[in-house]
Amino acid sequence: MLIDGHGRKVTYLRVSVTERCNFRCQYCMPEKPFSWVPKENLLSFDELFLFVKRAMDEGINKIRITGGEPLLREDLDYFIGLIHAHNPDVDLAMTTNGYLLAEAAERLKRAGLKRLNISLDSLRPDRAYKIAQKDVLTKVLMGIDKAMEVGLKIKLNMVPLQGINDDEILDILEFGRECGIKVRFIEYMENRHANEALRGMHGKAILERIKKRYTIHALGREGTSPSFNYRIEENGYEFGLIDPHKHDFCESCNRIRLTAEGYLIPCLYFDEAKSIAEYVKRGDVEAAAEVLAQVLRDKPEKNRWSDEMFKDDISARAFYETGG
Ligand code: GTP
Ligand code: 5AD
Ligand code: SF4
Repeated sequence: MLIDGHGRKVTYLRVSVTERCNFRCQYCMPEKPFSWVPKENLLSFDELFLFVKRAMDEGINKIRITGGEPLLREDLDYFIGLIHAHNPDVDLAMTTNGYLLAEAAERLKRAGLKRLNISLDSLRPDRAYKIAQKDVLTKVLMGIDKAMEVGLKIKLNMVPLQGINDDEILDILEFGRECGIKVRFIEYMENRHANEALRGMHGKAILERIKKRYTIHALGREGTSPSFNYRIEENGYEFGLIDPHKHDFCESCNRIRLTAEGYLIPCLYFDEAKSIAEYVKRGDVEAAAEVLAQVLRDKPEKNRWSDEMFKDDISARAFYETGG
């Protein structure tokens, strides 16, 4: 069992398979980075799996593949297949922007993927264009359709931004309800790589918008998920709110992140990371497991998005490296 320095059980591993992305979301990667990680610095799927397998053997029972945009990495179904074959019961999921999903959904499902979280920030083509800086909506909606058709379980993620898509909160909620898909609203997490002019919405303000139409009941956090769930009285629909600016958010943190270059990242807010690359490259799983133990020992207690004191000390960690 994996326990961190604050006594939290760690059972969830997020693996970013590439930092590259085909979108330029304002809140994540508004401009192409000065340089991408060179291909030769990426760990192969076999090298990544060496670590993933060990982590599964030590208690990881939920694995999420992230990016950048994970579908940009070739042979992703091979990697999914390795994880699935090692333990078919693992909660195996992926977070994607959905753009390449229509072509990939069937292969992913066949390889053993169970769930998908898809970003959907707007249902208006011009707005979706403004946020992702590309004409994306039609293909994303086709991706969602296809993923439903092949039987993948889906959630939708929306990041409400003041003056950009905050008037679509109810529209996205209705879309989710009509499709039978859970929507999670995510507080924008300020970071140095995002467009400086962006202003996110606090969870409370997001809920206020929903309360204008509906009566909602708090259900609580979904296990150790970052999402706090609500039910709409009028129609029974359940949605989630991911509110990292709240003080209790980190108490139930059960996750660590592994990047495509082999860095283990203990917290999404902080820049600290430790590399397992040289160890997995030479097949030394014990040494990689020792790095994991150190990372868990030093895992921060909480992020600083919730901390008034650190308002000016914006997170330097790039979301496209960790996949959120
Ligand atoms: P489920 O397994 O479906 O609950 O997925 P998830 O919410 O863990 O994954 P997803 O990739 O959809 O993440 C949704 C949002 O939650 C993203 O904006 C993530 O950045 C954010 N998130 C996930 N884990 C953490 C965390 O440890 N800290 C913070 N601050 N945000 C997180
Ligand atoms: N704040 C909040 N959510 C973000 N995401 C990416 N960058 C940010 C940010 N700065 C979300 C994406 C995706 C998920 C993995 O993280 O919308 O759904
Ligand atoms: Fe790409 Fe996702 Fe970042 Fe948007 S949020 S730029 S889709 S990695």
